Amino acid sequence: MTRRLAPVATLLAILALGAVAGEVAAPPVVDPERPDRADFRLAFGSCSRHDHPQTVWGAVRGLRPDAFVWLGDVIYADGKLKDGTRTYYGNDAHRRMYAAQSAHPEYAALARETRVLGTWDDHDFGFNNAGSEWGEKIFAQRAFLDFLGEPEASPRRRRPGVYESYTFRGLGRDASRSVRLVLLDTRYFKTDETVLGEEQWRWLERVLLGGEGEGSSSGDEPPSGANLDESHVPPDDLAPVDLTIVGSSIQVHPDTQTLLEGLARGIESWNAHPREKRRLLDLVARSRAATVFLSGDVHHAEIVTAPPACELPGELVELTSSGMTHTVLDEIPKAFGARRLAALVVPKMLPRWLFPNVGTLRRARFVGHNFGEVAVDFDAHDGEFDDGEFRETRGDGAGRGGGGGGGGRDTPSPSPIGARGDLRGAFAGGARFSSRNATGAVRLNVRDRHGRVKISKTVRLSDLGGGWSELGDRGTLGGRPECATEKHLTRLELARLPVLAVASVLAQVLVVAFSVLALFARTARKIARAQKGARRKGRKEA
Ligand SMILES: [Fe+2]
Repeated sequence: MTRRLAPVATLLAILALGAVAGEVAAPPVVDPERPDRADFRLAFGSCSRHDHPQTVWGAVRGLRPDAFVWLGDVIYADGKLKDGTRTYYGNDAHRRMYAAQSAHPEYAALARETRVLGTWDDHDFGFNNAGSEWGEKIFAQRAFLDFLGEPEASPRRRRPGVYESYTFRGLGRDASRSVRLVLLDTRYFKTDETVLGEEQWRWLERVLLGGEGEGSSSGDEPPSGANLDESHVPPDDLAPVDLTIVGSSIQVHPDTQTLLEGLARGIESWNAHPREKRRLLDLVARSRAATVFLSGDVHHAEIVTAPPACELPGELVELTSSGMTHTVLDEIPKAFGARRLAALVVPKMLPRWLFPNVGTLRRARFVGHNFGEVAVDFDAHDGEFDDGEFRETRGDGAGRGGGGGGGGRDTPSPSPIGARGDLRGAFAGGARFSSRNATGAVRLNVRDRHGRVKISKTVRLSDLGGGWSELGDRGTLGGRPECATEKHLTRLELARLPVLAVASVLAQVLVVAFSVLALFARTARKIARAQKGARRKGRKEA
């Protein structure tokens, strides 16, 4: 019996060591039942299959977010047939998948407790990497908005595309602080030339520039006389906010496609549309507002940054969370047990040494099922950033989610806005805001299905935002080595990731095989020795 178990035990020990080695970079665990204090909290996620085990909802509910935001691939309405061709499963299946998602008990409980918002990506739009050419887009929009419970009278049902913005006011200690969530539609209008389409660009300019978009000069204005129907410009609250959160289904800054060249194909990002990406970042810079980006799609999670004066006047920060029910590990072919092997030997927290060290590329990537969290603390200030942790600044315990505890999950989120309130146009007013003087900080977390923080970053609001005019010529600033991205990798550096990934898996397999062989050899020697002893004993007795 022990002879059979020994190799298995060795194998398990080696795998456990591998997993532990991969986990060391993870920041400290935060109990999801007792989330740290925040004045405003969003949870978000992407890439969820209605028919896969959905394991993150308990942890999402434990955070008691002010809203949960879908960032695309809520369902997969298309897929591959046995012969490898991709097919759209049809309108009925499309609706059935949403119905199944809505009926999921934990998700349904979340939707009762908090407001669910969202935008879509290609698979809930209906077809892999589809854009404006997609024939089912009008049906898909109706089905998506029905799933979100969008009111019949919503302007979102009267315009093409699902983009929208939500302004949360009345936040913070004196109820004077605010956050705006801007959800982009990267599918409905997408062509080879554009990600957002001119109509959505005009809307976005109004939202980000507070109605100052038209007429102000940036050298990159949309053509005059564009078809802008006033009814297509819903936000009546265009006043400045303390923090803008821009949600894009596809990644904005990271060029994952380039990094994985040869390993994966068809990964989209704004980098495939450099002029559109520049237009987005220029728009954010013109707004001067403290801004962070959220994204999904790529089936791994990471926090991506670019230092100040590289892409934006302030720091660029993007939190990508993808894979609530599946990640890149689930895309490895099943042949020869490859996927099972990968699940065993690949640590969920990919080691940083896999990645080339250019610019800010050597960053943590998590490939376990995950969701994202954005927590804003308007009272956090400079002295409170030890280890990137928020610290309590008031003793009254009035902050959100402070008490936690195991019970009380059925009570609705104590949101300052009200979980079901209409956020559009709430508490409008206030003077033009300069993020440079803002107090407070935003914390971005990638959490696993247990709610444990896997990757985390805290940024002062004053380090985000600002305008180029404060920094001088961006052309010279952008060329610094720390500004380098995937685009600047040499061929050799690009080969590093696939070579190391394959080599490390092979090395683990070899180590396991060698250990097993060594164990067998040692056991065989022992048996042979024992038999020899027995024979000798038998001869003596004879
Ligand atoms: Fe996906």
